[in-house]
Amino acid sequence: MKNTTATVLAQKQKGDKITMLTAYDYSTAKLIDESGINCILVGDSLGMVMLGYDSTLPVTMDDMLHHTKAVVRGAKNAMVIADMPFMSYQVSVCDAVKNAGRLIQEGGAYAVKLEGGASVCDRIEAITKASIPVVAHLGLTPQSVNSFGGFKVQGKDEQRARELLEDAKKVEAAGAFMAVLECVPAKLAELITKELSIPTIGIGAGAGCDGQVLVYQDMLGMFSDFTPKFVKRYANIGEMMTNAFGAYADDVKSGAFPGKEHTFAISDDVLEKLY
Ligand code: KIV
Repeated sequence: MKNTTATVLAQKQKGDKITMLTAYDYSTAKLIDESGINCILVGDSLGMVMLGYDSTLPVTMDDMLHHTKAVVRGAKNAMVIADMPFMSYQVSVCDAVKNAGRLIQEGGAYAVKLEGGASVCDRIEAITKASIPVVAHLGLTPQSVNSFGGFKVQGKDEQRARELLEDAKKVEAAGAFMAVLECVPAKLAELITKELSIPTIGIGAGAGCDGQVLVYQDMLGMFSDFTPKFVKRYANIGEMMTNAFGAYADDVKSGAFPGKEHTFAISDDVLEKLY
């Protein structure tokens, strides 16, 4: 069954947890889709895990479109949400609507995600009015890493906790159909989840959210630059890949690969004529 704004809302209402993972390419999206995960986020985290930047700030609209198109081709039932990259919505409401429109029309995404609370509500409202579903992103918003002074948990003191709760209510009022809560204390995320009628998706925000998202390279042990505290590792694919690459190199050097079963034959008659 296709996942839609209506199905994820119904999941919140029934207390059926919503599952989300990131993906950035066709093959991974296909595997995630086949596993029955509800939503695939083409996160701007691709800047770090796919492109090797040290933040999400260099990611462009072209990068997002390229990867969104690939993911959409692999996802049959999962809802594909594309991140709006840094500077694609900050400058003006007009830019925000145009760029959200490109991710839907050219990229084929179902919805877009953008970071921020009260300060981006006019963007959320305008994009929603253009009939594009919007996911809000609150708490640790990585595009603001330099103004936060690093990747830090948000909402620990009373003032910031109040602001986050208010921001959550404002993005819902502006039209967001879902909100990602990143690196927010678990009890605050639980309170926000109770106060909102739209689903919340946590990443480092505890089990009280309506759903969870992880970057797939983190949960599979494929990204070794750093591992955030909130990540649970479900497999060590990174180590398996390194071992497999090494075994391939050994086989090539020793002549064990390619074997007869991997090669194509030519008849001796044809071959003789070449000498
Ligand atoms: O870019 C991303 O992958 C994200 C998730 C961490 C929520 O925004």
